[in-house]
Amino acid sequence: MQLIATTTFGLEAVVSRELKQLGYEKQTTEDGKVTFEADATAIARANLWLRSAERVLVQVGQFEARDFGELFDRTNALPWEEWLPENAYFPVRGRSVRSQLHSTPDCQAIVKKAIVERLKQRYQKVWFQENGPTFTIEVSLLKDRATLTIDTTGPGLHKRGYRKLVGEAPLKETLAAALIQLSYWNSSRMLLDPFCGSGTIPIEAALLGRKLAPGLHRTFASEEWPIVPREVWEQARDEARSVALPKLDAPIVGSDSDPNAIKLAKHHALEAGVAADLRFEHRDFAQISGPDLLPYGCLIANPPYGERLGELDEAEALYARLGAFCNRLNAWSVYVLTSHKEFERLFGQASDRRRKLFNGRIECTYYQFQGPRPPSATQTTNSEGSA
Ligand SMILES: C[S@@+](CC[C@H](N)C(=O)[O-])C[C@H]1O[C@@H](n2cnc3c(N)ncnc32)[C@H](O)[C@@H]1O
Repeated sequence: MQLIATTTFGLEAVVSRELKQLGYEKQTTEDGKVTFEADATAIARANLWLRSAERVLVQVGQFEARDFGELFDRTNALPWEEWLPENAYFPVRGRSVRSQLHSTPDCQAIVKKAIVERLKQRYQKVWFQENGPTFTIEVSLLKDRATLTIDTTGPGLHKRGYRKLVGEAPLKETLAAALIQLSYWNSSRMLLDPFCGSGTIPIEAALLGRKLAPGLHRTFASEEWPIVPREVWEQARDEARSVALPKLDAPIVGSDSDPNAIKLAKHHALEAGVAADLRFEHRDFAQISGPDLLPYGCLIANPPYGERLGELDEAEALYARLGAFCNRLNAWSVYVLTSHKEFERLFGQASDRRRKLFNGRIECTYYQFQGPRPPSATQTTNSEGSA
């Protein structure tokens, strides 16, 4: 079957690599999505393991549709009964970009009707109660090409289950996992987030370093689907439990000047099952002492952007202090996500690499300052790294 892992803009390559690591090599990447070929077990494995994707969809069909008749007929011709049982609850969502069929409410209504007519024939029924498992269907039109999908995930993949309380300006877990995978960090190197807030970057790093599946402690919409048998989910969860590593080789430290943020971070780490892997400290980043920092570490941070009124000067002064602090780090690699366009000038150094990413709706740049490689050449690497 064709599955789609959706992503936010800029993270397609990270998700593609994650899918390859899971063994799904046959892929095509487009803006915001990676389509891959797999069997039903991939529905469970991709949902449990993907760290940077938003959700996993099943592609039921794709075709040209320039009028409602065409949309109805071609939707009706797809084998919906292979997916939807008689009692399926199947809301239809829609979107349309640069297409003749631009009214999404109409497209949604046509698709719903076409599926109902198909199921009436196949199940020999005239009325469906829709009181069973959920199959959220989407009709997505792009330049007159319709893609029909069913969402296998339910609440987005960033909802790992460990972060129920909300701190100030938290990063999405999926973005935090991507930032780490875009760095040279691996579990043999120290990691420091000196602006850790509610702890998202350190927690995601611990999950990654210990090979803990981020979705292990939550459920997914497709767990109720007859087409994915319970044993498939059980096997995927057993697999996930069996590969987890008992501990990390190097420390992960998060610190923040806000004591409440540190309380939250500790609570979230506990919920995520990685409290023993992390150290959280309440302090201004300038108080972090050099001897605590092992060489060849990685600093990965999402500092304040100064977007709120009156906070810009403070953020700018902080970037200058951060530049001076990072200069004193011995052989570290530094990664900073911010929306401030003048970050490099304030920080006092040009980055080795920049990547445009979105933190929610805020357009940001991920500045990457690569330090030297550690002496041992045998280390494993993350996404783009060759540590
Ligand atoms: C954008 S938030 C980080 C959010 C975090 N990534 C998360 O997912 O929750 C920036 C954090 O920097 C902290 N901060 C601001 N100035 C600081 C300083 N001088 N030293 C340490 N932390 C500071 C704030 O308390 C805030 O928690």
